[in-house]
Amino acid sequence: MRTPFDRRDFLTAAAAGLGAAALPAAQPAQAPAVRRGGPSPVVIASANGNRFTHGGSLTCVAQAFALMEKGGDVLEALVAGVNIVELDPLDDSVGYGGLPNAEGVVQLDSCCMHGPLKRAGGVACLEGIRTPSRVAQAVMQHTDHHLLVGRDAQAFARQMGFTVEADLNTEHSRSRWREWKRRVDPEHWLDPAKRSAASLAAGLSMVRDGLLDGEHLYGTINCNGVNAKGEVCGVTTTSGLAWKIPGRVGDSPILGAGLYVDNAVGAAGSTGRGEANLYGLSSFLIVELMRRGLRPKDAGMEALRRIKANTVEKRLLNRRGLPNFNVAFYILGAQGEPAGVSLYGSRYAVCDAQGPRTLPTEALLEGKALDD
Ligand code: GLY
Repeated sequence: MRTPFDRRDFLTAAAAGLGAAALPAAQPAQAPAVRRGGPSPVVIASANGNRFTHGGSLTCVAQAFALMEKGGDVLEALVAGVNIVELDPLDDSVGYGGLPNAEGVVQLDSCCMHGPLKRAGGVACLEGIRTPSRVAQAVMQHTDHHLLVGRDAQAFARQMGFTVEADLNTEHSRSRWREWKRRVDPEHWLDPAKRSAASLAAGLSMVRDGLLDGEHLYGTINCNGVNAKGEVCGVTTTSGLAWKIPGRVGDSPILGAGLYVDNAVGAAGSTGRGEANLYGLSSFLIVELMRRGLRPKDAGMEALRRIKANTVEKRLLNRRGLPNFNVAFYILGAQGEPAGVSLYGSRYAVCDAQGPRTLPTEALLEGKALDD
């Protein structure tokens, strides 16, 4: 259980903690200005945004909110927040120690969008850099492009001064990969058609056996924020689908799928089965539905209904004929209205003036994605 949140402790810790390098240390934490009718500053994220601290005192949403409240650039604050999760090997779905692909290589995806500047950047299939969100931000800041991939994304990162490591596995992620390999490939080779089904089945059996967090097969962090000036930004970062075919890119680095921001409307980002989200560009859809007047939660539920309607292949259905995977959206209206929605019950993180907390999502479907 988290202890009740003390705003003064939180801001003091924020100034002294991970964010200190990016903040003038001598500046005292400032109380937010009194606002009348303007946007309510808030940060929303997937639930891992209020879980991992990388040995510090603040979670992602707490760090991002504190930096935002000190007047920092909203995207910079969000990226500093997700860096905590990327660097923390305890989250095996993001950054360093993320679950690797089918060849045992950690390949990372990320994108970010800056509402006020109307700029974006992304990287996909990036190897060797613990913080792909920082590289996505560098693509946004230093290039005319929106997406760099693979070895050339890594070369770009090296040119930008990032440290490139030979291997981002930890002993945990490597041992989970070995176990997956043992389950999926007992005879060394399966024909490709059987292999993807066997891969999913092996992953799910590891979830059932308690070796993997079910949310981490497609695990990701998305984090979106709006400050008192109504500046909306977002970032998504992931190691993608565990044991994916090398080169597979999911929804996370794709603008409109894993993330979409429109400064006048709000932001939406996702975790869960990327293929289901990519098919309908759900984050873009959610923002467009909000533009037409839907509340964040209602816009998210409509996107989930479309995902359900588009899921017709038997291999993707459980015994009840419903999707056998989860997808969740973390949505923010430009005035600061947050909503977390998902196909099946999940959780999301939020931080505002009341402090960081983890809340249940609104679920479209009852029960679990996988039948017991
Ligand atoms: N949503 C993360 C992925 O599918 O890669």
